[in-house]
Amino acid sequence: MSVHTTAVVGAGTMGNGIAHVFALHGYDATLIDLDESLLDDARSTIEGNLSRQVDNDVITPADKAAALDRLAFTSNTPEGVASADLVVEAVPEAQEVKSEVFGTLDAHAPADAILASNTSSISITWIADQTERPDQVIGMHFFNPVPVMTLVEVVRGQRTSDDTFETVAGVADDLEKNPVEVEDYPGFVSNRILMPMINEAVFCVMEGVAEPEDIDTVMELGMNHPMGPLTLADFIGLDVCLHILEVLHDELGDDKYRPCPLLRRKVTAGQLGRKTGEGFFNYE
Ligand code: 3HC
Repeated sequence: MSVHTTAVVGAGTMGNGIAHVFALHGYDATLIDLDESLLDDARSTIEGNLSRQVDNDVITPADKAAALDRLAFTSNTPEGVASADLVVEAVPEAQEVKSEVFGTLDAHAPADAILASNTSSISITWIADQTERPDQVIGMHFFNPVPVMTLVEVVRGQRTSDDTFETVAGVADDLEKNPVEVEDYPGFVSNRILMPMINEAVFCVMEGVAEPEDIDTVMELGMNHPMGPLTLADFIGLDVCLHILEVLHDELGDDKYRPCPLLRRKVTAGQLGRKTGEGFFNYE
């Protein structure tokens, strides 16, 4: 099938980044969130990030204006998805929330629309099972910051059809991303490898192997990572990291995924990283 019109549900960091790249690459994109204030924030974030790309000569001012013209914002989910060919869900990572959202999408998106999830940790097969169209449900896992990062994990659920896979991989190509085909196992590939590394860095802090700055320096200078694992954990959100590790630990059952007690303690204390002003580093 061909995709022209898209909708993105959830106007947080990932959702606004996904709407940004759709609109920039010629797709009509409606960004949906029940919280109107998040939609206002998303609109100015997208404008700011497009301006950044203009300043960096990545796009022209005309590209920016055209992208803004292709964007719409609404708090009405049924209206927002009514004419979408592809919907990408980017709401919080809780099964009951996903279940409700996918029930609504299934009821109101066109019968032939593809329903994708940006989930980083919930099974695509389980999400597909919340709908009457499991063959048209797929994972489309983007990376933060979405306008910059060029990977999309395209995750096949147990019943995802080849047509759905090929359509979504084609859209990812159009977005100038590199789609990588991944099967539906906990953490897919990215988080199954990334989160144990972050967790091990937290164990290094807890056991006093080195100071947080020095742990990050080792990985930045020794391994050429753009951000050290603790800075990256703060960037992703320590609550998100903990949640993904819990899923890996519960579903794969191996002790190597056991979340570090220090990570849990920071989350309990509300030190979630950049978004709360404090994590392993201070951002105030
Ligand atoms: N929109 C548009 N442009 C952006 C942007 C955004 N949101 N964020 C950054 N940029 C641009 C900047 O303008 C800059 O452009 P320039 O090089 O042409 O001047 C470029 O990106 C680099 O940004 P900065 O100069 O601000 O800073 P850095 O050079 O430190 O790069 C970074 C920032 C791209 C975030 C880099 O540090 C990086 O790659 N970090 C690792 C990010 C990462 O690993 N992300 C994945 C997280 S895991 C995930 O998302 C999955 C989930 O399931 C957990």
